[in-house]
Amino acid sequence: MRDAAPQTIFLKDYTPFGFQVQDVHLTFDLAPNATHVTARIRFAPIKGAADKTFFLHGENVTLISAKIDGEVVTPKVTPEGLTCDVPDMPFTWETEVKIDPAANTALEGLYLSNSMYCTQCEAEGFRKITYYPDRPDVMSTFTVRINGPHGTLLSNGNPVASGDGWAEWHDPWPKPAYLFALVAGELIAHRDTFTTSEGRKVDLALYVRGGDEGKCAFGMQALKDSMKWDEDVYGRAYDLDVFNIVAVDDFNMGAMENKGLNIFNASAVLASPETSTDMNFERIEAIIAHEYFHNWTGNRITCRDWFQLCLKEGLTVFRDSQFTADMRSEPVKRISDVIDLRGRQFPEDQGPLAHPVRPESFQEINNFYTATIYEKGAEVIRMLKTLVGDAAYSKALDLYFDRHDGQACTIEDWLAVFQDATGRDLTQFKRWYSQAGTPRVAVSEAFENGTYTLSFEQDTPPSATTADPQPQVIPVAVGLLAVDGSEALPTQILELTEARQSFTFPGLAAKPVPSILRGFSAPVVLDHAADHAFLLAHDTDPFNRWEAANKLARASLLGTITKGSAPDPAWLAGIAQLLNDDTLDPAYRSLMLDLPGQSELAAQLHRDGHTPDPDAIWNAVHGLIQALSDTMADTLPALYAANQVSDAYAPDAAQSGMRALGSTVLNLLTRQDGGDQAQAQYGNADNMTLQLGALANLIRVGRGDAALAQFEAHWKDDRLVMDKWFGLQVGTAKPDDAADTAKALTGHAAFNWKNPNRFRATLGALAGHHAGFHAKDGSGYTLLADWLIKLDPVNPQTTARMCSAFQTWRRYDAIRQSMISKELDRIAATPDLSRDTTEMITRIREA
Ligand code: PHE
Ligand code: ZN
Repeated sequence: MRDAAPQTIFLKDYTPFGFQVQDVHLTFDLAPNATHVTARIRFAPIKGAADKTFFLHGENVTLISAKIDGEVVTPKVTPEGLTCDVPDMPFTWETEVKIDPAANTALEGLYLSNSMYCTQCEAEGFRKITYYPDRPDVMSTFTVRINGPHGTLLSNGNPVASGDGWAEWHDPWPKPAYLFALVAGELIAHRDTFTTSEGRKVDLALYVRGGDEGKCAFGMQALKDSMKWDEDVYGRAYDLDVFNIVAVDDFNMGAMENKGLNIFNASAVLASPETSTDMNFERIEAIIAHEYFHNWTGNRITCRDWFQLCLKEGLTVFRDSQFTADMRSEPVKRISDVIDLRGRQFPEDQGPLAHPVRPESFQEINNFYTATIYEKGAEVIRMLKTLVGDAAYSKALDLYFDRHDGQACTIEDWLAVFQDATGRDLTQFKRWYSQAGTPRVAVSEAFENGTYTLSFEQDTPPSATTADPQPQVIPVAVGLLAVDGSEALPTQILELTEARQSFTFPGLAAKPVPSILRGFSAPVVLDHAADHAFLLAHDTDPFNRWEAANKLARASLLGTITKGSAPDPAWLAGIAQLLNDDTLDPAYRSLMLDLPGQSELAAQLHRDGHTPDPDAIWNAVHGLIQALSDTMADTLPALYAANQVSDAYAPDAAQSGMRALGSTVLNLLTRQDGGDQAQAQYGNADNMTLQLGALANLIRVGRGDAALAQFEAHWKDDRLVMDKWFGLQVGTAKPDDAADTAKALTGHAAFNWKNPNRFRATLGALAGHHAGFHAKDGSGYTLLADWLIKLDPVNPQTTARMCSAFQTWRRYDAIRQSMISKELDRIAATPDLSRDTTEMITRIREA
């Protein structure tokens, strides 16, 4: 279906809908190709409304009939919706429409996934179900009747009644249409209960396909932990009698917070030791928490319009990161989040797709579910909390819930709560919401007569949406270390507000060593010629100690890439010592070896005025790991042995930390023993973490064929495990083979390209393989472009998101740029290209 001509929507044009929706009754008569949806909606015109147009969104729906107060009317219908003359007093609107779930491959609206009906309505999918004011500031209660011969019939809210072939649901909490959900299928429920702090007994259920019953227990526990945590930490209890989660195989994103009926990508909820890695478990726990936390931050208080998306997403990501830090390890979570931020958000903020945390315009809102809105949005809240302090943060959040429960809000509302609760003027802080780009902060030091001075200079490069960035409020956590490694001054928060600013610390006996941006207190690029080797040995801040290792590794790699210099002995010695330091958490030690990403190194080279060569970067990274392996050769077997778990498998922080370190060590050990230990681990593994870790090493040393075949034969019927099989082969390929490997896999019988998980596992792995994607011959670019062109008419949302693989194209040499440019042109020239992909390609090309 061809999209309407792209249209830009602006925040400044916001106008409220002219009608109040008093309640909504929906009836679904399910049939794969012709589902009938009957809607009965009570509207009341709002007196004095600026816009009195009765416009209802509707796309891909066939109108069968429309009535007002029982009288047939003939609305004016366009591909985007309908308008109709309506009375100037409350009225009942009734429509019947027909939709085609079986033909819905975009996975937005009502669709079929393995013969199960499910819905995805955020952001603007409800309009593909029936005619409705599909905007988040229109909130109403919903009553839903589902007619269908399915064993499981679910919708939002509480169950009202059911019988053979039908069920009725009522959601008493007014909600916007994007939180609507419906599920119908032959599903199996894994049940439990939770009693809230308010004494409400809630029936919990996790619905899965037959065969997946054994993968529910962990997700259920995560749900109960989340419910308890939100009561304990934010004072928020659950508000319905049931909470349902459904796992679906075909889903564009991770999961969706529909009121009382969360729908999850199977990969984001199903877990078992045999089929899931420790990382999967941790991610599932975080996503369950995230969706559950949305019940208050997103559902009870929602967004006025989609420009305010970070209001719910930034806050909910921040809340789920606090949860994970509490459940597991705070430093490990912080470091992992920063790795992710630098890997995904920084490139976005520093390239053609840069946009503010609260954008001011868009063409397709689906293109704005970005790392900037989610992850930078969470960083902004973290900074706010740092600036006002923990107690004031809690006070502000209580005020937010009190004042805005049941409302659709804006960033202005959010900041007003902080201003009112703390008396603090947040005018300048608000720039974090309106300016794109990653600020760079340069630091210089001076020491004279016992006074130490730190001088900061902040500068944000201009970007597509922010031509002239102004100084932002940057909380910089700083501690000073004495030369003997003891702390001369504990952490304090310096508030940068100006382009240039100095802070003095009098009364010091000797020049201290500063530890700057502790805990990564702001999402900036810090430019500081610090004594990283000293900090690596002595910093009392676990984040900055890790950062010191990262900075040393980065400098060493850049030296190798630009000057051919040998690996830095200070890094080698420091890491060798840390890895063997049993007083440190194994998970933390394992992260010490997490080298800067290859794409990140390319960004740094580009910033420093070099043209990044992906092969040189790849070689440098592998050379550094080899050097560490050689340096540590003697200690590796013992370190490996010390990090084997003997207890029964548990996906908890302690065990997964040991396995993470064990796997880091195995990676080094394989470079010494040629894969013997990996072979043994593969043979003995009784869980997916160890199995997959071993397999990756076997492939890297060219011994993977038998194991890959065995793995496939064993797991061929498990979709989620087979996604790993697809992804791993691409991810571990040598740069020159990555595109060929991916291409061969797209010819595999199990390459079901319409399934977003499988598509991403294969083509996403190629896009994530820096040297492979940027292979000199352009084969990576061509393969990805071919598949994006093929997927676009089927699933525009997933296609558009994957276009971001090209966002960094201006960093590379002229030949690569011209090859990418040709592919971008080819995609852009595709007939009937979706609005989603058109917007992405246009923005990327304008770089
Ligand atoms: N709102 C979902 C979340 O953050 C993400 C999502 C957006 C899912 C759009 C589907 C479609 O949890
Ligand atoms: Zn979310």
